Amino acid sequence: MSEEKYVLNADFGISAGLFNKRPLKPATFVIFGATGDLTMRKLVPGLYNLFVDNQLPEDFTILGVARSKRSLEDFKSRLKTGVEKYSRSGFNSDDWEKLAGRIGFFQMDYDLDESYFELSKLIEIEDDKNKDRSFLFYLATPPASFAPILSGLGKHGLITPEHLKGLPHTRVVVEKPFGRDTATALELNSIARMYLDEEQLFRMDHYLGKETVQNLLIFRFANAIFEPIWNRRYVQKVRITAFEKIGIEGRGRFYEETGIVRDVLQNHLLQIMALCAMEAPSSFDAERIRDERAKVFNSIRPLNSADTNSVSLGRYKGYLDEKDVSPDSKTPTYASVKMFIDNWRWEGVPFILSTGKALSQKMTQVEIYFAPVPLCLFEDKDVCTKLEPNVLTIRIQPEEGITLKIGAKTPGEKLDVSPVNMHFDFNTSFKGKAQQEAYEKLLLDCLKGNQTLFARQDEVERMWKFVAPLLEGAKDGSIEIKEYDVNSDGPEVKP
Ligand code: BG6
Repeated sequence: MSEEKYVLNADFGISAGLFNKRPLKPATFVIFGATGDLTMRKLVPGLYNLFVDNQLPEDFTILGVARSKRSLEDFKSRLKTGVEKYSRSGFNSDDWEKLAGRIGFFQMDYDLDESYFELSKLIEIEDDKNKDRSFLFYLATPPASFAPILSGLGKHGLITPEHLKGLPHTRVVVEKPFGRDTATALELNSIARMYLDEEQLFRMDHYLGKETVQNLLIFRFANAIFEPIWNRRYVQKVRITAFEKIGIEGRGRFYEETGIVRDVLQNHLLQIMALCAMEAPSSFDAERIRDERAKVFNSIRPLNSADTNSVSLGRYKGYLDEKDVSPDSKTPTYASVKMFIDNWRWEGVPFILSTGKALSQKMTQVEIYFAPVPLCLFEDKDVCTKLEPNVLTIRIQPEEGITLKIGAKTPGEKLDVSPVNMHFDFNTSFKGKAQQEAYEKLLLDCLKGNQTLFARQDEVERMWKFVAPLLEGAKDGSIEIKEYDVNSDGPEVKP
């Protein structure tokens, strides 16, 4: 067995550093939905930081594509504001000018054949000089535009299956949610697969790019002591929480289409759950890791949406008054489920996943509750009632870190026990090491062709299947959507 296999390369998820060793080809980023929020807040600030850190190929260009008309100057000025406001490393006008020199803008109708001809000419995808160039099409549009754009790109030869050699390298990044449900995800996939190999399709879920989410696997598979207790014999329950303080921030139209189940539960939370629950992969290779995640999704017990102890949906007070929200909206802004994974490791252990908007705090974390001691050896009854089970809390954000709650002797003559914390804090331990933004990491992975941190089609289908009863229940009214106060912890009754 080669030793290389056991090297966990700095470039997460890649055995033997394969992707790191490949020089990056010249690249063209084509961003659809370029006048939208995502481009301004995440994509262009991410590209700016990669550029400043010299992580992009020397020869690269960015073309923003949008339906609405804009002058190039207007477009760049909006992006500049985005970089000033959201760049992780701050803003430097010289660097910005250099980047801005590589940015173009193209207005087009996503349904019009003519537009794709023009786009193809503009990026010179058929030009011989670009034979060795990567073209990355990023679909940062509302989900309804994914299918027409994929078909348009495919029909006009802008994207082509990689296995047909000698053609330019084309990859497509699709923002989550991939589809609206199982049927639309399948349909979208079949359109994509007419023109692309699975290796060219990057289903984006930015949570997988967060350092602390990646660290879930490092924590589990770089530390031997937790593995023997990481199972149904020692773990009593797992709680995964992603709370946000913000509401929908004026995105009524998007939110009415999406809702919390499609926006966060179906993707971010289920992916975190899979990383906590999966078996060790046979290697740290993208496909092997995706295989293990997919196995978890295959083992999820279907939700019993009629069980109010297992399912709770909510809507914050005032949601109905938000702009572009229908007065008889059936869109939840809070969701919580108790789910089970029917496999040898996890049988009988509840995983409680909760997420919502307009809650008391911004916080994403995983809590592993361990079994209590089998017997209380302390004679004092008071002490026995005070014993608390160990809880391992993995803070994804903010205050990124890991805490293990243990019982300790309270100093003093009298025997007493108090819960105390053993704590690892990312910022203290890695002082001076900036955490790469999720989008930076993932954009770079797209360029490198590394799919470890992207969902595969089978995962996506299973995740849709799991949330289907929630989507249906919200729509047909069989699951009540309970109102909750802004700044609270969601509806009172929940799993
Ligand atoms: C996005 C959702 O995927 O994640 C947003 O569409 C949500 O509604 C956001 O606010 C939260 O991301 P983060 O990285 O701030 O936790």
